[in-house]
Amino acid sequence: MKPLNTNANKHTFSSIFIKFAVCFLLLGLAYRLFSSSSVQFSPVVVTTGTAFYEEKALPPNPPVSSSTDLLRENPTSKNVSERCNVFVGNWVRDRTGPFYTNATCSSIEDHQNCMRNGRPDTDYVYWRWKPRDCNLPRFDPKRFLNMMRGKSLAFIGDSIMRNHVQSLLCILSQVEQAVATYHDEQYKSRRWVFPSHRLTLSVVWSPFLTKASVYEDLNGISSGIIQLHLDDLDATWTDQYKNFDYVVIAGGKWFLKSAIYYENNTIVGCHNCQGKNITQLGFYHAYRKALNSTLKFITSSKHKAFTFFRTTTPDHFENGEWNTGGYCNRTRPFREGEIDINDMDGMMRNIELEEFERAAAIGSEKDLTLKLFDTTSISLLRPDGHPGVYRQFHPYSRKDKHLKLQNDCLHWCLPGPIDYWNDLMMEIFVNG
Ligand SMILES: *[C@@H]1O[C@H](CO)[C@@H](O)[C@H](O)[C@H]1NC(C)=O
Ligand SMILES: *[C@@H]1O[C@H](CO)[C@@H](O)[C@H](O)[C@H]1NC(C)=O
Ligand SMILES: *[C@@H]1O[C@H](CO)[C@@H](O)[C@H](O)[C@H]1NC(C)=O
Ligand SMILES: *[C@@H]1O[C@H](CO)[C@@H](O)[C@H](O)[C@H]1NC(C)=O
Ligand SMILES: *[C@@H]1O[C@H](CO)[C@@H](O)[C@H](O)[C@H]1NC(C)=O
Ligand SMILES: *[C@@H]1O[C@H](CO)[C@@H](O)[C@H](O)[C@H]1NC(C)=O
Repeated sequence: MKPLNTNANKHTFSSIFIKFAVCFLLLGLAYRLFSSSSVQFSPVVVTTGTAFYEEKALPPNPPVSSSTDLLRENPTSKNVSERCNVFVGNWVRDRTGPFYTNATCSSIEDHQNCMRNGRPDTDYVYWRWKPRDCNLPRFDPKRFLNMMRGKSLAFIGDSIMRNHVQSLLCILSQVEQAVATYHDEQYKSRRWVFPSHRLTLSVVWSPFLTKASVYEDLNGISSGIIQLHLDDLDATWTDQYKNFDYVVIAGGKWFLKSAIYYENNTIVGCHNCQGKNITQLGFYHAYRKALNSTLKFITSSKHKAFTFFRTTTPDHFENGEWNTGGYCNRTRPFREGEIDINDMDGMMRNIELEEFERAAAIGSEKDLTLKLFDTTSISLLRPDGHPGVYRQFHPYSRKDKHLKLQNDCLHWCLPGPIDYWNDLMMEIFVNG
């Protein structure tokens, strides 16, 4: 196994904080720099042990030869109505391409608008998720809007949730234009309606899901340690919960941030709070507790929402972290088995699975539909789907060339691999 990143520059921590605005990425940093070095942090580990561009198992470039890939699919393969884990599989060539482009969807966030920002390669939009044991039908926006007629669908979480909502919005808006009806001051929580289908779509900003005091400005620069309550939920989402028919919810990388943890309004410990004489509990503890509190609320609520609980999405920084020159310029997906999840994402995922199983058992006794939305593997296999340097507009034609280019190897280009999360969501709606 060959780790592709390095742990260099451990001591340049404070000076680097200045530039980068994606606060989401700040955390990876905090965790990786502060935690003990015994854990392997490489976000990408190529199990074949070969060079950076491992291509032997991959089919040739699209759109040239995509028809052969379609033919290669076993024509007798089971259809989706039969039991199949849709989250296990591979990305296969598909010349169909995306539902939308930067020209046909106007609501793509600048930092994820890779086409507009000048990303030169386009291969990354010509792959389709193919579950190993069945076929996954392409998302059908008309059918989705009809199924969701009169309903309210909410995405609750961090900027990866926002990334997902924007993908869905772009796809649906090819059928019916959404009308924005609400936004908070920073446009983090938002709501739209699709008037002729009376569908309400919300994204609710709640990166910890539990109550938190965060002292960060718009650029993600912190002026104080986060105070995080592990047993008290964030009212931003719980106050609205009764209005939602469908909920997609997840924790994520915000938990890597330094924080002081509370239970029953009393300090119980912290993560990275050196010098404060508080027990270092570490963020895994907090992650488990917060997910447990969240799922407890959902399973004990009188209101029953069809709930998707999403698992963690690995990032793909290589040869460094986001702030130490890490980048993600691969142009091909990995094949199943070609890459291992790193220890940290693996731990987060185990915690998610354990807490989900316990909640699902409780939920099933109460006739509550709680589904695991297991996007870890589908994400892990797409190192090519991130904005990378194309998080900024035409990065190589800027005047201030001396500034180091910032890479985003966590969020997803739109259009991009995250569009397929909607296919998976639809499949679960339709076939359970
Ligand atoms: C596919 O799905 C249909 C129902 O939609 C079912 O009748 C059929 O037996 C399934 N299996 C195969 C192999 O076609
Ligand atoms: C979309 O991206 C292309 C480059 O791929 C660019 O030429 C075009 O101006 C962009 N259009 C919009 C509306 O952003
Ligand atoms: C929570 O704290 C209050 C005092 O602030 C105490 O009376 C109560 O017993 C505590 N509950 C638990 C479960 O520890
Ligand atoms: C740290 O906390 C413990 C227990 O709360 C206390 O006994 C000890 O004196 C504290 N140490 C310092 C240096 O404040
Ligand atoms: C990716 O970036 C590295 C470091 O800048 C460079 O050596 C490599 O050639 C790049 N690969 C591609 C496909 O651009
Ligand atoms: C939360 O944790 C408690 C205590 O460990 C456990 O009994 C319960 O099953 C967990 N999950 C939920 C949804 O309550």
